[in-house]
Amino acid sequence: MPAALPAANVPDRDGGPRLAWGLTGSGHWLRETLDFILGLDAVDLFLTRAAAEILGSYGYRQDTLRGRLRVYQDHTASSVPVGFLYEGSYHTLVIGPATSNTVAKCVAGISDTLVTNLYAQAGKCRIPSIVFACDTRPTVVSEAPGRTVTLYPRPIDLDNTARLAGYPLTSVVEDIDALRAAVTQRLSCLTTSCS
Ligand SMILES: Cc1cc2nc3c(=O)[nH]c(=O)nc-3n(C[C@H](O)[C@H](O)[C@H](O)COP(=O)(O)O)c2cc1C
Repeated sequence: MPAALPAANVPDRDGGPRLAWGLTGSGHWLRETLDFILGLDAVDLFLTRAAAEILGSYGYRQDTLRGRLRVYQDHTASSVPVGFLYEGSYHTLVIGPATSNTVAKCVAGISDTLVTNLYAQAGKCRIPSIVFACDTRPTVVSEAPGRTVTLYPRPIDLDNTARLAGYPLTSVVEDIDALRAAVTQRLSCLTTSCS
């Protein structure tokens, strides 16, 4: 059960705060997640370097996505786009699907990619995060390019997912239905000012 998220306390800018969505290098749930993102309004996509590669492997063209959304891919050492968080441009961060690598870094407080930087800086700005973790079950059936694979997340992967769920301002969801529900609830909370 994801933790309740507080209302974001961020100023309005450029038509109001938007949803920041961090995409990582996960093939698991990628198609379902992108389908969901493309149905949302006011969402900007932030790619890790691995996400940019994975999109191509699964047949997505970045220029097509850029026709529908703002897409940020970081080429700087300091993750310059995270500065948007300081300006109140985003009410919520969603990371999903989140690789075991990104989850582990978030748990350890490491911020050396665009998405792990967003998570760290969102926390420092008291902006809530929803993390859709890939490694939530002992056995995962996943779509690899051109085939289906069965994977067995390691104890450390499962442990990191569980630990992240206990972090402040963080809601961890474990499947696509829970992701849709958590994002929909968050957006509806913002429009009705519930907390
Ligand atoms: C085709 C492909 C699919 C992948 N799918 C996953 C996945 O579902 N989950 C995962 O944890 N890592 C997956 N990886 C590995 C990550 O992309 C890799 O660990 C990468 O370093 C993650 O970087 P990021 O967390 O900064 O995005 C996949 C790699 C490839 C090549």
